[in-house]
Amino acid sequence: MENDGIMCLKKLFHTSIVVLLFLQCFNPSLSSGFYNVSVEFRAISHRVVTRCIESEREALLAFKQGLVDDYDLLSSWGREEHKQDCCQWLGVHCSNRTNHVTQLHLGWSYLDQAYALQQKGRPQYIYYYLQGKMMSPKLIKLKHLKYLDLSQINFNGSQVPDFIGSLSNLRHLDLSYASFGGRIPTQIGNLTHLQYLNLNANNFANVENLNSWLPHLSALTYLYLSRSNLSNVPDWLEIVNKLPKLTNLSLSYCSLPSPLIHSSTLFNINSSKSLAHVDLSENQLPFSSSSSIFVWLSKYNVSLVHLDLSENQIEGGIPQSFSGLCNLQELYLSNNILSGQLSWLVQILMSACPDQNSLETLALTNTYLSGSIPNLTNFSSLKYLDLYANQLSGTIPESIGHMSRLESIYLGMNALDGVVSESHFSNLSRLRDLDMSYTSLSLNFSSNWIPPFQLYSIFLSSCMVGPHFPKWLQNQKSYKDLDISNASISDILPSWFWSPLSHQDPGSIFINLSNNRIRGTIPNSRFEFSSSSFSQVNLSWNRLESPVPSFLSTATYLDLSNNKLSGLISFMCPKTSNKVSRLAFLDLSSNNLYEQLPNCWTRFENLAFLDLSDNALYGKIPTTMGSLPSIKTLKLNNNGFVGELPSSLNNLTRLGVFDVGENNLSGLIPEWLGVGLPNLAILILRSNHFYGSIPLQLCNMRDIQILDFSMNNISGNIPKCVNNWTNLALKGSPSLTIWNTYNSSIGQLSYFEEASFIWKGMMSKYESTLGLVKCIHLSSNRLTGEIPKEIIDLVGLVSLNLSRNNLTGQITPMIGKLESLESLDLSRNHIYGGIPTSLFQIYGLGYLDLSNNNLSGKIPIGTQLQTYDSYAFVGNPLLCGIPLQQLCSPEETSPEEQPMFGDQVEENDGLITTGFYLSLALGFVVGFWGVCGSLIFIRSWRYTYYKFLNYVYDWLYVRVTLIRQQRTVDG
Ligand SMILES: *[C@@H]1O[C@H](CO)[C@@H](O)[C@H](O)[C@H]1NC(C)=O
Ligand SMILES: *[C@@H]1O[C@H](CO)[C@@H](O)[C@H](O)[C@H]1NC(C)=O
Ligand SMILES: *[C@@H]1O[C@H](CO)[C@@H](O)[C@H](O)[C@H]1NC(C)=O
Repeated sequence: MENDGIMCLKKLFHTSIVVLLFLQCFNPSLSSGFYNVSVEFRAISHRVVTRCIESEREALLAFKQGLVDDYDLLSSWGREEHKQDCCQWLGVHCSNRTNHVTQLHLGWSYLDQAYALQQKGRPQYIYYYLQGKMMSPKLIKLKHLKYLDLSQINFNGSQVPDFIGSLSNLRHLDLSYASFGGRIPTQIGNLTHLQYLNLNANNFANVENLNSWLPHLSALTYLYLSRSNLSNVPDWLEIVNKLPKLTNLSLSYCSLPSPLIHSSTLFNINSSKSLAHVDLSENQLPFSSSSSIFVWLSKYNVSLVHLDLSENQIEGGIPQSFSGLCNLQELYLSNNILSGQLSWLVQILMSACPDQNSLETLALTNTYLSGSIPNLTNFSSLKYLDLYANQLSGTIPESIGHMSRLESIYLGMNALDGVVSESHFSNLSRLRDLDMSYTSLSLNFSSNWIPPFQLYSIFLSSCMVGPHFPKWLQNQKSYKDLDISNASISDILPSWFWSPLSHQDPGSIFINLSNNRIRGTIPNSRFEFSSSSFSQVNLSWNRLESPVPSFLSTATYLDLSNNKLSGLISFMCPKTSNKVSRLAFLDLSSNNLYEQLPNCWTRFENLAFLDLSDNALYGKIPTTMGSLPSIKTLKLNNNGFVGELPSSLNNLTRLGVFDVGENNLSGLIPEWLGVGLPNLAILILRSNHFYGSIPLQLCNMRDIQILDFSMNNISGNIPKCVNNWTNLALKGSPSLTIWNTYNSSIGQLSYFEEASFIWKGMMSKYESTLGLVKCIHLSSNRLTGEIPKEIIDLVGLVSLNLSRNNLTGQITPMIGKLESLESLDLSRNHIYGGIPTSLFQIYGLGYLDLSNNNLSGKIPIGTQLQTYDSYAFVGNPLLCGIPLQQLCSPEETSPEEQPMFGDQVEENDGLITTGFYLSLALGFVVGFWGVCGSLIFIRSWRYTYYKFLNYVYDWLYVRVTLIRQQRTVDG
């Protein structure tokens, strides 16, 4: 259990570091590879030989009329003299023999290549090149059309026109990612020559009519219907099974229902003999090992090449019938509950074909597999081995070092232990991705080892890499991802550390050395991170000294917190260049910065997150901090800043978190906080010398969630308009965390917000549950007057601390409306009157302090209030009853005490107590334990949450790999 908690925290940390959502979102071109038409751009010849048939030219022009061509890609399509030959138009192919138009290529990947050629490079990702206003019915004049690709043209929810069924010669139809809506026209069933049909990822309403058109397409070889809702098609498998020529089937993310089919009808004489590619991933399909899908798949033992069943609910392993898959190259089973031993699965895969050598990809992330890693050398073609996040134990067999084809190994998040040595890699010259993170493996290489591989990604977080800094990294000149955080390294950061990076082609770089004991200085370098992609550097929680080197300001994400760094000036205000910095995230908190903060902030126009807290910075807050147009989080707390808050800060209109607590700031609380910063959610001025009253303008802060003005010299009344704080007037929160994102031209940065404040008497740091924390802390000031009644509208409040002021008046009897309250401190004021009974209706109230006031009467009895210690009530001379020593005289009752519990409690004791403790427990779990705590207790939550994290994580991997492949292809 403890391990689960730690794992959870690590995962949270891992993902919270940063999630990069690359703008290049998904690229459907990767899924099609059928006709494989290369793009040719023929120069328009001067010798005008018009092959094109006039009626077809008119049809094409009518079709163009229905499109919006923002990038002018169809400029060759026209009526002008020199454009007459439509066979020369972009995307149009004619038959050499008949001159009829036979192919129309207007899909994304074709247009993207055309655009890249025009622009000589690809400046940015364009999602839609063409918009489809309407599809001209004249298209059917193209009677000889065999190939039609309109993928990723934005048809904006319109329906696929019925006349598509009249293009009776079509062999290839690609309408994927085209934002079609409505229903799929049954007329598609008339395209009986169709061999390739791709309708992936449209917005079709529930596809119920599959049976009325699909069985007619008897020539169909490729069928792609992923991301269509097939939940109302219980006979989908039967229908698919009637397609005699089918080889490729993709029904990913279709909400497929469990198929209604008898195994006898599966062996249909008409069904395909050579199904090769099957993708049924992401359907949450419940499979048992006897499920008809397995029975059906086992018919294709010989032909199956690619099988993806990931993200379903396969429970209890893989049936023996899988044993004959001798030609299988790719098997994806990630995110299922296979359970059982990995060696058992390997045996099944190998048993019928002991010389199993076709398998190249085996993906088993998060499948609850246990046991040790067996000898896998029989999979002699294996390139990609993914066993991430299972329950594997024992050592890694050295035989893995002989699997010379291996390119990617993911073994992280397992209970593996033992030593990993050079022999584990002896023949792995093709290895590019290595993940052994979050295991108990210890890496032991001789100091002069030269690895046979050049890695792209290295994930060794939380395994034993140290105590010495891994010298073999000096030889790795291609890596883009390096994570050796929390890897027991206790050494000096080598001077060569940045030099491998300068050998690389530009691209995004991710470096994480955090949570070690790395000492020494950060060597400066002439290296600059790429200006067109995200780069992240995390060196936090080490013992690095020295000034912060200036080249690091070319990264996008930089976390240097919790070191001993000193000296910001050359980093912030480089003499040589005044270039705009790409830094979006900068954390320098908890270092030894002892200087005046340089006034060079104007070049940090991309900065969204800045944390300089817990240093010894002094002097005034520089005025140029008001020129951080992107800033969302600004933390300057726990330094020695003096003077007033500069009014230039009221330009920071995006600011959501502003923490200047624990400084020596003074002056009035600025009115502009409530006027210029409309997005403030967290405002902390704690422990400074601010004086004057709380300006009414602050009531405009509708998003405010945490307001902490405690320990200042603030006087006057608490404004009545506090009930304008609408966020505090809402119960709960849509999310546990505060998840901030920042979009820049090169990508998106996301991070979890965190904040520290005094909670139930202790300073605590909140991140994973910050979204739930809603509080007002005004303690230790000189506030006077009554607590405004309006405060009871703030029903979302979780903590209210007004202690140590000069407040008077009574506690409103309606206080019980604050149902979310977990902590209430009104101590050390001059509040009088009785304690309202309604306070007991707040089940979650775990911390209460009413001491040292002028409260009177009897403390109400018969409720959980009695679980409080007497210190919560002491110092109120007129108060009596349990838990105080002072007993009440018989006639004294609480002012509004009602015997509402009394008898009932005794009669229904069991029931009430259960419910009562249940709600207490819930309050406890949510309030104290947050995500991690509850995940430990509730297995299904944990599963979902892990899945989400894994998904983010895996998806990142996939993106990184895809982009890389693309780069390799492009370059
Ligand atoms: C049609 O003509 C082009 C150019 O002359 C040629 O490259 C291509 O191979 C021909 N196609 C067929 C099917 O004959
Ligand atoms: C196919 O076309 C014929 C006429 O061309 C029409 O009568 C028939 O209804 C169509 N069938 C489907 C399934 O659309
Ligand atoms: C692993 O299996 C291969 C092939 O069966 C065999 O040659 C080799 O000796 C095995 N290695 C170990 C360490 O058992």
